[in-house]
Amino acid sequence: MIGASLSRWTMSYFAAALAWLFVALALMVAGIGYPAADLQSADTLVLVHAVCIGWLSLAMCGALFQFVPVLVAKPLFSDGWALPALGLLIAGLVFLLAGFLALGGRLPAAPWLLPLGAILLAGGFGSIVVDLACTAWRRPSGAARFVLAGLFSLCATVVFGSIFSVALAGWAWPAAEAVLESGVALHAITGLGGWLTLTAMGVSYRLFSMFMLAPEIGERRSSAALAPGALAIAIVVVGGAIAIGRASGSTAVLSAAAVMGLISVALYGRDIVAIYRGRQRRRLELNMRMAVLSFASLAAAVVLGGVLIAMGTFAAHLGAFVFLAVFGWLSGLILAKLYKIVAFLTWFETYGPVMGRTPTPRVQDLVAEQRAAKWFVLYYASVWVGTVVLLLGEGSVFRIAAAAMTLGVFGIVREVIRTRRLADVTRPLPVGAVAPHLLFARN
Ligand code: HEM
Repeated sequence: MIGASLSRWTMSYFAAALAWLFVALALMVAGIGYPAADLQSADTLVLVHAVCIGWLSLAMCGALFQFVPVLVAKPLFSDGWALPALGLLIAGLVFLLAGFLALGGRLPAAPWLLPLGAILLAGGFGSIVVDLACTAWRRPSGAARFVLAGLFSLCATVVFGSIFSVALAGWAWPAAEAVLESGVALHAITGLGGWLTLTAMGVSYRLFSMFMLAPEIGERRSSAALAPGALAIAIVVVGGAIAIGRASGSTAVLSAAAVMGLISVALYGRDIVAIYRGRQRRRLELNMRMAVLSFASLAAAVVLGGVLIAMGTFAAHLGAFVFLAVFGWLSGLILAKLYKIVAFLTWFETYGPVMGRTPTPRVQDLVAEQRAAKWFVLYYASVWVGTVVLLLGEGSVFRIAAAAMTLGVFGIVREVIRTRRLADVTRPLPVGAVAPHLLFARN
């Protein structure tokens, strides 16, 4: 899992990501943005980007700084870029959100806010993409290929988003106006489907085999799941650009991408079931049991999408569908894995230097799974209730579900902080071991 070294700033990314998750949850509890406002409203754009960039993308980047060098068994291309990139991303997000607030009239009009936010975000994401892609490229096989496809999708997302920002500022040429007019779905799909989902799929192939002590899925098989997913993104980017250029509408492009995406998820699901069946660890740890609930959410989102399309009501219920995919699948998976990754990295950082010289606790001694389980269950249950409530159009009840989600996340974060502080370890710290810092690794 670790390879040669610990990533110094992974914990800082996780901390910033969780802070943004609380911002997003506070907005939902306060009734700001969808479902109280339209999906296209400025308030919803604030909420969407606090979740997509602040929470999901920062958490994913933090995990990849640790994980990609392990995947390819080579050091990170550059150690020095992670912290400046984090600063750029946070500053860029603040300007982007301020730009959305100004668009909605909540702040005085300031057209430069959105382009400035986009420039800072492009700088932050750009340096992360170069750093991780140059690392993954050193051995581009297996899960590293998913990461490369995810990073390509992130670039496409940032390009679309930057064009929108310039167009919304009123500084753009007609072609950019056309991209803003017809490209929002393409931006959302490359972001949520390409960047976040393909990367999460790739990382989970490796993590799940490791955590369940199961044989790894072969290169050919995992590539079979990646190929249709990567093709879906290629169709969205290339086909979408052509459709915008010809003003021909993007229904055909979106349908073809949806079919490819579905095939990819189905093949991935088959592989995950194979890993689960082949596991040697019969009793699963909490993080894996909770990851199963994420897969259930992904499967439910696929079924829900199919049913809504068949009934001709997909557009009307798009918000509920995206909510289930973002909070049940992506956020649930990230929370479950973060719980384990923090425990593992904390254990390695603290006891690694003295291992073999003195008795040390196990990774599982750093966590109290029974206490943590109820917070995860509360989180998933409130996401599912929230989805049903959104489908029923009960916006006010949704705020109660969001409050319950917040409580669940609060409980999980409290457990993660206890792990980092070694609060559940009963033995005293061995001589030569140093307690870790909460927000970064001391290596
Ligand atoms: C440089 C980074 C980014 C910029 C500048 C940006 C900018 C924008 C802008 C201006 C819009 C509104 C378009 C309109 O007026 O309808 C938008 C929509 C959207 N963005 Fe981004 N974005 C960025 C990154 C991301 C990422 C990384 C994700 C997901 C992972 C994402 C997901 C979305 C979604 C889902 C929408 C549609 C929201 C809705 O219609 O309610 N964005 N983005």
